[in-house]
Amino acid sequence: MINVAFVCLGNICRSPMAELIFKDLIKERKLDLSFRVSSFGTSDCEEGNSIYPPAKRTLIMHGIPGSHVAKQISLKDVKNNDYILVMDSSNLLDMLRLTGGNYGEKIFKLCSFTHRPRDVADPWYTRDFETAFSDIEDGCKCFLEYILKEKAEALDYDRRH
Ligand code: 4NP
Repeated sequence: MINVAFVCLGNICRSPMAELIFKDLIKERKLDLSFRVSSFGTSDCEEGNSIYPPAKRTLIMHGIPGSHVAKQISLKDVKNNDYILVMDSSNLLDMLRLTGGNYGEKIFKLCSFTHRPRDVADPWYTRDFETAFSDIEDGCKCFLEYILKEKAEALDYDRRH
């Protein structure tokens, strides 16, 4: 079992989009039983809120329905996950503050796994949810490719037992 948590600021736009996109990708490849996927905000500013409607509409337009309730990440969540995938430099800095610089080996920017490392475009101010979707989808696909290579043995074992 591989535990993956996606993290953004509010947990109502980018990280729940990443959670649902990644769940869709692993379901398509029949790998859903090998992963536990969740998402969190570094802040509690949106705690308890649903996915932001324009983000939800964008997901639905791409055939990915689903829901999520926003929650703030804690140190326990960091300990309980194998990979913490943040959306941008600001999220990375917030995680550094939360962890005091520990757990660096499992905290990455999602788009660091792509051929064009970058921050996921923040749609909160630009209103450009399509670019955010495309950055996140690219990151999730490349991260999954990385995991499939890195954890091939463990995933194969999961499937046989
Ligand atoms: P998210 O988007 O971090 O992708 O969920 C935001 C949500 C709320 C705020 C900013 C970004 N905010 O400033 O309240």
